[in-house]
Amino acid sequence: MTRGTFISFEGIDGAGKSTHVASVAAFFRQAGRAVVLTREPGGTTLSEKLRELVLHEPMDALTEALLMFAARREHLVQVIEPALARGDVVLCDRFTDATFAYQGGGRGFDWQVLVQLERRVQALPDGSLRQPDLTVWFDLDPLIAAERLASARVPDKFESQPVDFFAAVRAGYARRQAEMPERFARIDAAQTREAVGADVARVVTPWLQRSAA
Ligand code: TYD
Repeated sequence: MTRGTFISFEGIDGAGKSTHVASVAAFFRQAGRAVVLTREPGGTTLSEKLRELVLHEPMDALTEALLMFAARREHLVQVIEPALARGDVVLCDRFTDATFAYQGGGRGFDWQVLVQLERRVQALPDGSLRQPDLTVWFDLDPLIAAERLASARVPDKFESQPVDFFAAVRAGYARRQAEMPERFARIDAAQTREAVGADVARVVTPWLQRSAA
């Protein structure tokens, strides 16, 4: 059965992942692959509405976690699963690791509750759990990220958090990587943009070959 490839991109705000996500899309398309480039929270009409709420309205921590997973469920059912069934390459700017990092690490929300929500939301009909095949984690010191963000546009609810929050988010990503090391590729995002791009190309290339086979 043809099955696509699912790659997610993660990192604290200011780590610089977005430009590299676009390059990876171009890379796969040049190789003749059908690419679905999408993001979380978002990716469907309803999920984009939830994104607006969750990025701009103050809310209870459980509400925030539930809305992230609600947006994710729609995205999976409407976009990601159909694309993977077609054999496409799905490139997702953030996925569940962001919930563990931001709501779990950053907000201090109960990690095990997130594990339970993940099990429910990402369950496949055969009982297995949908996870990215590869997660590219742009890891960066929060102080460097804060310097980069200072010159950026108007911050949203998360971007305006203090450096300590991002240190906790970063620790959340590190914990996720430790729990599921096989699918994580950590990239040192403090390097030059070119060096980061080269590292990203190196970790995604095996998937180009695999998905083309
Ligand atoms: P981001 O992906 O950085 O998009 P943009 O480049 O447009 O700012 O913004 C999404 C924000 O949402 C980011 O601060 C992380 C946060 N977020 C969570 O807190 N939990 C999640 O599960 C996801 C997917 C994102």
